Amino acid sequence: MPGHLYGPGLRVVSSFALYTTVVNRLEELRRRHQAAEQGGGAERRARQHQEGKLSARERIELLLDDNSFEELDKLVTHRCRDFNMDEQVIPGDGFVTGYGRVSGRLVYVFAQDFTVFGGSLSEANARKICKIMDLALKTGAPIIGLNDSGGARIQEGVLSLAGYADIFLRNTLASGVIPQISAIMGPCAGGAVYSPAITDFIFMVDRTSYMFVTGPDVIKTVTHEDVTKEKLGGSMTHNSVSGVGHFLASSDEECLQMIRELLSYLPQNNREDPPRRPSTDPPGRMDPALDSIVPAESNLPYDIKDVIRRVVDDGEFFEVHQHWAKNLVIGFARMDGRPVGVVANQPAFLAGCLDINSSVKGARFVRFCDAFNVPLVTFEDVPGFLPGTEQEFGGIIRHGAKLLYAFAEATVPKITVITRKAYGGAYCVMGSKHIRADINLAWPTAEVAVMGAEGAINIIYRRELSGASDNGASRQQKIEEFRERFANPFVAAEHGFVDDVIEPRETRPRIISALHMLENKVDTMPRKKHGNIPL
Ligand code: HXC
Repeated sequence: MPGHLYGPGLRVVSSFALYTTVVNRLEELRRRHQAAEQGGGAERRARQHQEGKLSARERIELLLDDNSFEELDKLVTHRCRDFNMDEQVIPGDGFVTGYGRVSGRLVYVFAQDFTVFGGSLSEANARKICKIMDLALKTGAPIIGLNDSGGARIQEGVLSLAGYADIFLRNTLASGVIPQISAIMGPCAGGAVYSPAITDFIFMVDRTSYMFVTGPDVIKTVTHEDVTKEKLGGSMTHNSVSGVGHFLASSDEECLQMIRELLSYLPQNNREDPPRRPSTDPPGRMDPALDSIVPAESNLPYDIKDVIRRVVDDGEFFEVHQHWAKNLVIGFARMDGRPVGVVANQPAFLAGCLDINSSVKGARFVRFCDAFNVPLVTFEDVPGFLPGTEQEFGGIIRHGAKLLYAFAEATVPKITVITRKAYGGAYCVMGSKHIRADINLAWPTAEVAVMGAEGAINIIYRRELSGASDNGASRQQKIEEFRERFANPFVAAEHGFVDDVIEPRETRPRIISALHMLENKVDTMPRKKHGNIPL
């Protein structure tokens, strides 16, 4: 019998050999896992911590729910053989990629490990990112990138550039399909900035992050300007000057917590509604303080954020672009547990005028909300577009048109509350009835007119007033008449351009009622490949 041929002893030996092979393989597996986890070694990890930065794995751990991370491609290695790179092969190749949960909901994540070749992008780790981006698109879940990188891996040349382009393509294809979030937690320079730039939101960490297309040395050579890294592309520069950054965090920990909070307002993809959560703030809550929040003098400022906080659930407002273009306030809140996007003119800054930056800021936010089924609630107090050569030369016509276009094309539920001024073109732009807002409400303090009374009188009575002897008195009288006749909400209400004039205290219940009424709203766009928003 064949069993006799080999003998029972031989069978034992062969099982033993198999056993040792398995043990060896297990040891090999553990060794490789450990090497991946060590990254660039203890010394480089210590340096990362000294600089106030967490490691890639620590960041992922803090971002995700406990024990929810499943790593992919931990054993991937680069294939570069130049510059002695074959002697420096680290499993995972410096990027940690995979999927996990945030508040129980699936997300994909990648984190660049600065301790491995400065977190630089290689052909191999670009493929890792593309793999999870493809999975995120196929399964309809957000993707979060934690960036900390010296850019293209110099040793790999064009292969690295190809990797970037592969990622840029996926960022573009995923735009408007799944939320894409970038955190800049170290350097992000050169063309590497364009992946975060295409994503929906950019978080930056104070003092440790910076972004620029060309660094201080190149700038010095080309333009002879002296500028520090921080001034050129630090977190405050991008949060307050360029508008590239949407959120500023004081530490890695805070940044990761803020990403979790942002996700709580967002759906998983463009086919879902944003997640509701039970609210303990009564939907019918009236707030008498709102009745006197707008000053009697029409040109005095007040803080629109006070209005927002008094209206939304539990006073919680998650502001986007808090430090940039402060004349327009944008952010997320909840109304009766349902996420909404808030857009509001800020009378406490530039009198609430719309300018280039605020138009761009508002337009991108409105488009994000529309893409991801987040209803829009607009608070309007706008005297018009900011006058001046700087604005005109800078293209306020084109940029202001972006905001108009964004509001007009949005098909999500749109509710507008005019608290005070709604003047001129800005009246049309800020979620007016004419560009498909569903419910338009006005407070009794609203002034809906082509322009302010003084400016209007100067124009329509110019000839008459310049000849009059009692110029001052009759001018003032005409201003009063104009104000009485036009600077109120009632003319617009008579035409049905506002659906109702409400007492300010009723604002919360009226918005919530409108949101409920609009829950099954369906509106469409004419068939087209895509529009041509004035970029
Ligand atoms: C390979 C890199 C690297 C890179 C850094 N390292 N950047 N390795 N490719 N791009 C390595 C360093 O050799 C070093 O290795 C380790 O990472 C840490 O770098 P340090 O310079 O010691 O760190 P630090 O002083 O903090 O300076 C960080 C830095 C600097 C400012 C990012 O490293 C730097 O300027 N790197 C080059 C940046 C750059 O020019 N990248 C290409 C941009 S062009 P050791 O072994 O010493 O620890 C680009 C094109 C993208 O990205 C195009 C897309 C379309």
